[in-house]
Amino acid sequence: MSSMIDIALPKGRLGETVYDMFEHAGFDCPALREPGRKLIFENREKGLRFFWVKPSDVAIYVERGAADVGVAGKDILLEYAPDIYELLDLGIGRCRMAVAAKKGFRDDTERTLRVATKFANIAKEHYGKKCRDIDIIHLNGSIELAPILGLSDVIVDIVETGKTLAENDLEPIETIVPISARLIANKANFKFKSEKIERICRGLAAVSAEFRRGR
Ligand code: PRP
Repeated sequence: MSSMIDIALPKGRLGETVYDMFEHAGFDCPALREPGRKLIFENREKGLRFFWVKPSDVAIYVERGAADVGVAGKDILLEYAPDIYELLDLGIGRCRMAVAAKKGFRDDTERTLRVATKFANIAKEHYGKKCRDIDIIHLNGSIELAPILGLSDVIVDIVETGKTLAENDLEPIETIVPISARLIANKANFKFKSEKIERICRGLAAVSAEFRRGR
């Protein structure tokens, strides 16, 4: 097994902040700052290799051991329940999983509730606890359109600022769970590389308060 630590970063705005945290904690990789479309970067001296993956794929890379560690949203961990260690709440990428509907929506409990979402398992668990019959309509994005076009009664989706809901005449009606970014590790690789991985975890924990507040 390689002695490098392989790190899966979520591509996009959250990933940029995550990498800032790694860099700030001393786990830097200058090549990653160079412009271009490369997806994989190494810092041989520090024994680190970073790669950019689609945010919803980070947990797959880590679960299968293609990455030793990675950063994934709690939404993805709840939805796919990957067999990984969740090491640390980074306190960034904070938002909530919520139920939303058209303004003035009243639930008719005599009828099956049509729920549009990317997060079918989270929605099923939420309504299962209430013994509410639902029909899941699985969409891949622009979930907010579903109640407007009569495709669903409600949506289960991520709400950050609430702007997308407000601008589409929807309103949140329930919070299901708060969400933030988590440092995760592959279970088997953690055994072999625990010292290095724990050092990364401690380093990120030490800088997380500063990033939580927004720098
Ligand atoms: C997410 C979510 C909402 C939006 C909420 O979408 O699905 O649409 O962010 O943010 P707000 O409360 O700050 O308006 P994302 O940008 O991740 O794209 P998606 O449509 O692919 O889900």
